[in-house]
Amino acid sequence: MMTTVTEEQDFTTLPEMPEGVFTAPLKKPAHVGDDWLEPKQTEYSSEEDGIWNDLFSRQMEVLPGRAASAFMHGLDKLDLGRGGVPDFGRLSEELDRLTGWSVVPVPMLIPDHVFFWHLANRRFPAGNFIRTRETFDYIQEPDVFHDVFGHVPMLTDPVYADYMQEYGKAGWKAMRYNRLKALGALYWYTVEFGLLLEQGEVRAYGAGILSGPTEVVFAVEAKSPNRIMLSVDRVMRTDYVISDLQPTYFVIESFEDLYRQTVERDFDRLYRNLPPAFTYANSAAIDVDNVVHRGTQEYLLRGGRGSGARPV
Ligand SMILES: [Fe+2]
Repeated sequence: MMTTVTEEQDFTTLPEMPEGVFTAPLKKPAHVGDDWLEPKQTEYSSEEDGIWNDLFSRQMEVLPGRAASAFMHGLDKLDLGRGGVPDFGRLSEELDRLTGWSVVPVPMLIPDHVFFWHLANRRFPAGNFIRTRETFDYIQEPDVFHDVFGHVPMLTDPVYADYMQEYGKAGWKAMRYNRLKALGALYWYTVEFGLLLEQGEVRAYGAGILSGPTEVVFAVEAKSPNRIMLSVDRVMRTDYVISDLQPTYFVIESFEDLYRQTVERDFDRLYRNLPPAFTYANSAAIDVDNVVHRGTQEYLLRGGRGSGARPV
């Protein structure tokens, strides 16, 4: 018997979320519609363009040899280093030619089901604002540097671009099963903090790693964190930390493998079998793991960010 959950979804219009599905109580600004899109991108001051340029230069000192080649090629293809905060319209034209994606401006946070809807339609929602000099090193909300520098270059890779769309399509289903946390963990350990093997070497493709200077080195080279080959089921059962470096990173063989693992997984079945809470601690390596590097967890054991421990 078909239930409402297994019915084929129509992704052309925003879904009505059934009663009982949790949606974060975000207050919609008066000037945006149901799609939560800003009418246009912010105009940035020369000081703000300067912040972008300085952030860009800082990353370019640490990324070569540590970032996935798909990411580095994406930076080139989109010419993100041409100076100043990129114009979303021009970016979207180039992305559309490459993989059919676009970049759309949104207020800081948007509801999950709206976010998934944009992804399912190959639109990447990007924050409009840019951090200040005072918050140069650490921001809580993703800004335009994290969103555009960190995420958008990967959307030039055709297989990764398809994965992001599939992820968006999987979102509403997760909400209806009340397993959003599990799907969020998959996003976290791939789109934000994913590692990839390239000719036997670990490289980063996750935006949370690539948009800051410390985690790039930590994720790829440090002794502390575990590096474990990704299994979608394992990752969706694993807790994660949002305010510190990750104790564990998951590694993929290729974007094809990630895409295949995601589209071939029967999410209805998986969601029915997933407990509502995470099963595995974020620092654990378990029996069935294919471990690339067993971490010492020294950074975590010394107390992490709050203690001033060195990210070794
Ligand atoms: Fe992000």
